[in-house]
Amino acid sequence: AVRHRADLVVLGGTGDLSMRKLIPALYHSDREGRLAPETRVIAMSRGGLTDADFRGKVDAEVRGQVPVDDPAVWQRFLERLHHVSVDVGGENRSGWSALTRLLAGHEQRDRVFYLASPPRTFGPFCRELQDAGLVTPRSRVVLEKPLGHDLPSAQRINDEVGAIFDERQIFRIDHYLGKETVQNLLVLRFANAFLEPIWNSLWIDHVQITAAETVGTPGRRGYYDHAGALRDMVQNHLLQLLTLTAMEPPARNDREAIRDEKVKVLQALRPISGGEVGRFTVRGQYTAAGDMPGYLDEPASTAPTEASRRVETFTAIRAEVKNWRWAGVPFYLRTGKRMPYRRSEIVVQFKDVPHSIYPGGTPNRLVLRLQPEEGIELHIMAKEPGAGEVSLKPVPLSLSFGKTFTARVPEAYERLLTDVLAGNPTLFMRRDEVEAAWRWIDPILDAWSADPALPEPYPAGTTGPAGAHELLGRSGRAWHEEE
Ligand code: BG6
Repeated sequence: AVRHRADLVVLGGTGDLSMRKLIPALYHSDREGRLAPETRVIAMSRGGLTDADFRGKVDAEVRGQVPVDDPAVWQRFLERLHHVSVDVGGENRSGWSALTRLLAGHEQRDRVFYLASPPRTFGPFCRELQDAGLVTPRSRVVLEKPLGHDLPSAQRINDEVGAIFDERQIFRIDHYLGKETVQNLLVLRFANAFLEPIWNSLWIDHVQITAAETVGTPGRRGYYDHAGALRDMVQNHLLQLLTLTAMEPPARNDREAIRDEKVKVLQALRPISGGEVGRFTVRGQYTAAGDMPGYLDEPASTAPTEASRRVETFTAIRAEVKNWRWAGVPFYLRTGKRMPYRRSEIVVQFKDVPHSIYPGGTPNRLVLRLQPEEGIELHIMAKEPGAGEVSLKPVPLSLSFGKTFTARVPEAYERLLTDVLAGNPTLFMRRDEVEAAWRWIDPILDAWSADPALPEPYPAGTTGPAGAHELLGRSGRAWHEEE
């Protein structure tokens, strides 16, 4: 692979995302020889750190998270790191001159501006880059989620960033697209012959997409009160999984061909609005249970407000893709904090056999597990050994990536940062995708905010409120749970 010389400038470079995900991912890339020797990482923050301070911080906070088998490689990595203190939108220009000096003479390198900062900073920061003359033809910008809080705000951010960068230079991150199983879903569907002929409403009863987390939201209330599960997880991660599950086969493995097909799925989502919202969506909020606090009692710097009481930490939705392939097949989405397990998966539930000659069969089910352990399971019916009456038992044909492949499974951010440095936007969201997703989400948000009822409570450590089970139960279905 070509290793481009690059300067990676991270706004919010000392923040949580950077220290937990980006810096470790870059170290892995370095260790595996994917960074050119000249490549530098320049963290920007208001922190007033020197390069040495920042290297010390990374040494103290990141070294323990990654495998350091060769101290020389770790040292080489630390030497790539720089820090610039900057006050975005502020009066003090000295940070900008420091950045300008650092980048001067390196215009031929790929220049990546990674904005791991709140979305309101995206537009102003890009303008400042432009004013400082730092945007070169080889520049790219990476935008972290959330991209706005509704369609108009997303459009505004896209316009502001789009005034400085071309769409081909803009990389909108959804880290779920970097997960191994998610990319494997495309390989499973489009590099195997046996699935695609039955991947439609004739054979599939419904699809379930779950992202369950055990964590709560300690210390995040400031963000979460105004986000909620729908904006935090569904608008991006879950809808991305839905598009990859439902999309038509693209003609080529090519950035635009794949994204064209994904956007068509989003455009085909049947709108849920007004009175239907109560029937097709569920929202919940966790309450204290055992030693786990409720959402309103999570440690936070401010007391809970009306927004805290109204925000959903769990949501379940019955979606539908209105096209020839999928009409009539429900896509159930669910995500929540403080559930009993951490598990993200896509479950494709097939229909029952057209005519059964045995008692006791259950329909086939394909489970794609994203985490904790990446794997694919096809639940099939088998005969239980024995000389008596034929007795059926569902058993999994199971592929565990961990057991099948010896290579380390890279973290999502590693794959995505590698793609940004290589200039490949296939696994990033195009403007029309993000906006189509918001167009579907907004009417749900509107109906929820017009509804005087609060989210249904569910005790921390459970699988969500009763409504989530009724959403499937009323058509005789149930959420996939571990047997
Ligand atoms: C982030 C959300 O995008 O995804 C978090 O903001 C959530 O609230 C996280 O915890 C989940 O990511 P993962 O990779 O742990 O499933």
